Amino acid sequence: MMAKIKLRVNGKPVFLDTDYNRRLLDVLREDLELKGPKEGCGEGECGACAVLLDHQVVNSCCVPLANCIGKDIVTIEGYAMTSRYKILKEAFEEEGAVQCGFCTPGMMIAAESLLNKNPNPTDEEIKIGLSGNLCRCTGYNMIIKAIKRAAKAGEGIW
Ligand code: FES
Ligand code: FES
Repeated sequence: MMAKIKLRVNGKPVFLDTDYNRRLLDVLREDLELKGPKEGCGEGECGACAVLLDHQVVNSCCVPLANCIGKDIVTIEGYAMTSRYKILKEAFEEEGAVQCGFCTPGMMIAAESLLNKNPNPTDEEIKIGLSGNLCRCTGYNMIIKAIKRAAKAGEGIW
């Protein structure tokens, strides 16, 4: 069904005239040229397409545009402009938690959502927080270490 839709993406108002049943992932990548969110499984299982929807991490391959009307969406492109992202990125690099990088945008978005709710997570809480995000390269220990490092480096910021 076609509809006029307004939402905010990376802090800017966006107006669309499109089918509200389309997947948020397609709208971001095709209409808004935001290629950071990736299509992995397309079924809500890998987290490569993760974005923040009103500060909550969601898999944009499973979210119809209709659920985003009037909401705030942040993709990795928008998040990359923040000081929190810089802390996370450095921590991921220092711990060797990025290899092919395919999962990294989704991982960072999930980590942001986790640290926003819980600035000092335990290993177990990090595992749960990232349970929707798959990485086939690094092994999760480096990712857990990176998030702990970021939590420490960004104390008072999260
Ligand atoms: Fe969306 Fe895998 S592409 S969860
Ligand atoms: Fe390759 Fe995670 S770094 S899938």
